[in-house]
Amino acid sequence: MIHALSVASEAYPLVKTGGLADVVGALPDALAPHGIATTTLLPGYPRVLAHVGGAEVVHRWPDLLGAEARLFAGMLGEQPLLVLDAPALFARDGGPYGDPQGRDWPDNWRRFAALSRAASDLASGKVGNQRFDLLHAHDWQAGLAPAYLHFAQNARRVPSVLTIHNIAFQGSFDAGVFGQLGLPPQAWGIEGVEYYGSVGLLKAGLWAADAITTVSPTYAEEIRRPEFGMGLEGLIASRGDRVTGILNGIDPAVWNPATDPLLAARYSADNLEARIANQLAVEQRFGLSGAGPIFTVISRLTWQKGMDVLAGLLDDLIAMDGRLAMLGSGDAGLEQAFRDAATRHPGRIGVEIGYDEPLSHLLQGGADAILIPSRFEPCGLTQLYGLAYGCVPVVARTGGLADTVIDANVAALDAGVATGVQFDGVTPQALRSAIARTIALHREPARWRQIQRRGMAADFSWDNSGARYAALYRQLLG
Ligand code: ADP
Ligand code: GLC
Repeated sequence: MIHALSVASEAYPLVKTGGLADVVGALPDALAPHGIATTTLLPGYPRVLAHVGGAEVVHRWPDLLGAEARLFAGMLGEQPLLVLDAPALFARDGGPYGDPQGRDWPDNWRRFAALSRAASDLASGKVGNQRFDLLHAHDWQAGLAPAYLHFAQNARRVPSVLTIHNIAFQGSFDAGVFGQLGLPPQAWGIEGVEYYGSVGLLKAGLWAADAITTVSPTYAEEIRRPEFGMGLEGLIASRGDRVTGILNGIDPAVWNPATDPLLAARYSADNLEARIANQLAVEQRFGLSGAGPIFTVISRLTWQKGMDVLAGLLDDLIAMDGRLAMLGSGDAGLEQAFRDAATRHPGRIGVEIGYDEPLSHLLQGGADAILIPSRFEPCGLTQLYGLAYGCVPVVARTGGLADTVIDANVAALDAGVATGVQFDGVTPQALRSAIARTIALHREPARWRQIQRRGMAADFSWDNSGARYAALYRQLLG
């Protein structure tokens, strides 16, 4: 049995702002059948602490990067959880990264350096009787963990893996904070945390980790290029042989239309008619009337997700006889653009601004198609949920979207293998014609059913990806 420590800033169901949480939450169960026991380390945000309330204190740090901290042990589902309770850093209202107004906490570097330092202490055997064979860090918030491990004194050297869920978020901070990270002077440089004169937390992890993964094969290739590497392409390319893409899976305990308690009606590929109850619930909730396929959006409203391009096309979508039920939050300007569109098209466009996990399930179960016009998408989970729920994904051909959806072109339709609609380049023209193509397909019920069924039959369970992570761990452990 290999004991792995997985460290991240989010894990479903305790704390989630996006796909990172789904993946970190699902990974332990995905790895268990392959002989990997995973313990997850999370920051002690109020909700996470409440979850482990009254648990035993495993360790105390009188001064963890200037903060007093304790470690609690609990469970995340069936698997062990460790929670870093550092009230000065994590006991705050608001989100995991910012205040209730959405502004980033100015001391995020300290908050996540402390998390990373705790992970490194754990992995290097310095915390009580906790022993791990390997450290698995996720995204910039845990990026310093491999670097701390690299520079640790008198420590067990265990291998480290860093998974990039999104290279656009790099955790760059003013050089002035370097002196407070508790790293030796030689860590300031190209061989360390320095990145164009700043402290780069993701960069530090990319430099120090023994292996780097990202969440789809196409994204693993894309980030070697300037258009996608966001300045880190050189480092990625130089570590080329250590960078691999392992596709995310979906957690069948949470995302399965046959068992999902958050749906108005459960169904499978054999009784897709039962989706109608979910469609009616969506129509009611979003005030939709009339006919025409219902498109949904379940997304952060940001440039990455191409939501500006979609917002500019909503009148066209309605003119083509489509309807829209949108759930999302993000950029204020985009939120307003979608609200305005709903005002212009009552009964045809319904918009909920916010974050609503149960509603996201109902939309997958009741809408006809999900629009994902991302400019880049490391993996993307909502298209995988769409496939599983017979909510046909309409996606830009990039990253994990390119790897998981089979476009309904003539050849794929004839071969009966199509699972969605793809388009090249996030331009108004390309997205408009993808929407038009989707609406045309929806007018042919037999074809549409075939696309839905084929998507539902696609296997995006964790089985394959769990095996690939386990193989990587074993390779690192020699
Ligand atoms: P990202 O992590 O880049 O936001 P993913 O597609 O990987 O994109 O994951 C997004 C996750 O967040 C999915 O589980 C999706 O259902 C969920 N999600 C996004 N926006 C919302 C929202 N407004 N309400 C509920 N769930 C949302
Ligand atoms: C990031 C990416 C998304 C990916 C998720 C989980 O948030 O933007 O594409 O699915 O991480 O890996």
